[in-house]
Amino acid sequence: MFPYVRNRRTRHTQQIRNLVSENNLTVNDLMMPVFIIEGEGKKEEIHSMPGYFRYSLDLLENEIKEAFSLGINAVNIYTKVPDHLKDNKGSEALNSDGLMQRAIRRIKEIEPQMLVFSDVALDPFSSFGHDGIVENNLILNDESVEILAEMALSHARAGADFIAPSDMMDGRIGAIREKLEENGFHHVGIMSYSAKYASSFYGPFRDALDSAPGFGDKKSYQMDFANAREAIREAELDVIEGADILMVKPGLPYLDILYRVKEHTQMPVAVYTVSGEYAMLKAAAEKGWIDHDKCMMETMFAFKRAGADIINTYFAKEVARILNG
Ligand code: PBG
Repeated sequence: MFPYVRNRRTRHTQQIRNLVSENNLTVNDLMMPVFIIEGEGKKEEIHSMPGYFRYSLDLLENEIKEAFSLGINAVNIYTKVPDHLKDNKGSEALNSDGLMQRAIRRIKEIEPQMLVFSDVALDPFSSFGHDGIVENNLILNDESVEILAEMALSHARAGADFIAPSDMMDGRIGAIREKLEENGFHHVGIMSYSAKYASSFYGPFRDALDSAPGFGDKKSYQMDFANAREAIREAELDVIEGADILMVKPGLPYLDILYRVKEHTQMPVAVYTVSGEYAMLKAAAEKGWIDHDKCMMETMFAFKRAGADIINTYFAKEVARILNG
């Protein structure tokens, strides 16, 4: 009881705070999303993501080397597909010489030790902007899963270290695992977007890839933001189906989900702090309303506190620079 108990004794100086701190953040926790486009000499800023760019393959080298030298161990890659290559089945996704496959090979050439996580979903390849095949305005599940498994195989063949399915079709983790095992890719892992919500915080990402759904929304496959227990069911199924890492997405508005998933499983858990979260912080900082770096670091610690082992973030390089002093 007060005055014998005084919590402020362990807050008094930076040194005592260091000693008693419950969580730490290091560059080893970071994963960096990378947007890739066709063409040469292209570095385009995404208008709703100030300071974030799409790169053509020839300009990737600097970006990858810089990230690796900052201590970032992994990139999560997305490609922007030209309109004329889009169709309902996302056929271009299976092209062994497609942009994604070339990007995987290129990054492993630039820095073989950089872990490459490749995005698996149909939306960037779909003429409808949906994560699966569309029929009569419905998103087909099993037919889409077959393509997703083929897509994963083609990324593994190109040299991806981890497949990262962001589509939310039922059963895709098991199907991808089976396909990889059958083809001898036992060592290629799966980071599942286990609890991915139908969120409006993805807006700037859809600008980045020109991948907004052409009709309707994604609520028939992505999760309802009213639900939390359902996230545990998703996570449990992914574990049974063979996922190696589970991911929760978005980040800050879903810290409770991150916490629950971490509590309920024995798996490495990643959080994806998404484009809209990045945009909000950048916009408020641009207006001078908040301190950019301090709010960014506070956010990163919130993820660690909630249980994240991995933080997939557009802030990766900025955070790494601060951590490296
Ligand atoms: C689509 C995908 C999305 C994001 C990652 N993969 C958008 C969506 O589901 O529409 C969003 C990431 C972000 O907003 O940063 N498969």
